[in-house]
Amino acid sequence: MSEAPEEKAAAAVPPPARAKRVQGGVATADVVLSAHSGGNAELFPRILALHVPPGAVIADVTYGQGIFWQRVPPGRYTLLPSDLATGTDCRALPHADASLDALVLDPPYMEGLLRPKAATRGGLGSHAGLRNYYAAGGGHPATAQGLAGGRWHQAVLDLYLAAAAEARRTLRDHGILIVKCQDEVSANRQELTHVQIITGLAELGFYARDLFLLVRANRPGVARLLRQVHARKNHSYFLVFQKVPAGQAVGRYRTRDLPLHRP
Ligand SMILES: C[S@@+](CC[C@H](N)C(=O)[O-])C[C@H]1O[C@@H](n2cnc3c(N)ncnc32)[C@H](O)[C@@H]1O
Repeated sequence: MSEAPEEKAAAAVPPPARAKRVQGGVATADVVLSAHSGGNAELFPRILALHVPPGAVIADVTYGQGIFWQRVPPGRYTLLPSDLATGTDCRALPHADASLDALVLDPPYMEGLLRPKAATRGGLGSHAGLRNYYAAGGGHPATAQGLAGGRWHQAVLDLYLAAAAEARRTLRDHGILIVKCQDEVSANRQELTHVQIITGLAELGFYARDLFLLVRANRPGVARLLRQVHARKNHSYFLVFQKVPAGQAVGRYRTRDLPLHRP
């Protein structure tokens, strides 16, 4: 079939020259990766460097022994450390509304460490060091006062969610919330804590901006193994959230820089 004259003419006219798209950037393998083998002290500064601009005001509300901060260059951020062990509950912070650029949350992540009765609380025997580390020593004032909410794994989640609600109050819009957590098997139930936290925090108005997987360098043992049912966990997570301003949909939010404007 022969072409119509106007089709021939159209074919002869070259298409208008498009402006050439110039790709920026450099080829490099020197990027922050999502999975790491090692410890918190090595990974945490990399997460901060990627997600929190220098000069930011950061509250670490479960400061503990400050392991996270061991390798963070001094003076890069304004750090406001607090912990239940030194009298500040992360669910009732002294900070003003919208006063923080970023907040770090690393509460006890195993339900056994939140049990009110010392006899049944986890971390006995070979894990005594861990138990003290996570539960602020000997007992857990929050559970003793009945503040930890639900029982078993629910107590873990309740603490994360209540602390996240307080983080939402104290963070500025687009502020960064860094949450450390680990999944657990509790009462013979697989609890994917990191999924539960991501889901729960979306409901509170937080966008899940990034996720880091930390694999333990050493091999964990099991004290009394009869029959293995679930994989022994040797990994934990750092989740990075961003506060979505009120009235905006979390599902439509896109990652954006955190501008630091100080009065
Ligand atoms: C896993 S440790 C934190 C370790 C810390 N990120 C570090 O780098 O050393 C958990 C901490 O949460 C604290 N904690 C437990 N319940 C708390 C609460 N309701 N409010 C504030 N801190 C709490 C404990 O005292 C303990 O220091």
